Amino acid sequence: MKEKQTIIQLPKFLDARGNLSVIEEFKDIPFQIQRSHWIYDVPGGEVRGGHAYKKTEEFIVALSGSFDVILDDGKECKTFLLNRSYYGLYVPAGVWREMENFSTNSLALVLSSTKYDANDYIRDYEEFKALKNEKE
Ligand code: TYD
Repeated sequence: MKEKQTIIQLPKFLDARGNLSVIEEFKDIPFQIQRSHWIYDVPGGEVRGGHAYKKTEEFIVALSGSFDVILDDGKECKTFLLNRSYYGLYVPAGVWREMENFSTNSLALVLSSTKYDANDYIRDYEEFKALKNEKE
């Protein structure tokens, strides 16, 4: 599925007992969830990411706190502030990403469309740019 990077609002069940949000594959996000991981205890000033994936699509939610996700599709860079647990950022394959400005106690949930495969990473920015130029 060729979707663009975008913020997706999630269902929100407001309740005096506490609120609830939900993510269903193919309904709220455009892929099947093969893997979940989360990033926590990020020291102040640290930057995560710094890579692209060849095939993997991701959906990123700030379950707690806030952070910025910077996406670079080879043409332009966009910064997305994630700071609520009822929306997230869909990141298609082939997009360079960095995550920074993590607040204290922030918790980033990342859902992925693939099983972990170190070979799916592009960790060299020049290689990323070259691949993007090839495809044009
Ligand atoms: P990495 O994806 O580079 O982290 P980030 O993009 O957030 O900076 O992963 C960091 C380490 O964790 C790396 O050694 C690989 C390992 N890892 C797994 O083993 N399985 C996974 O699903 C993920 C996402 C990472």
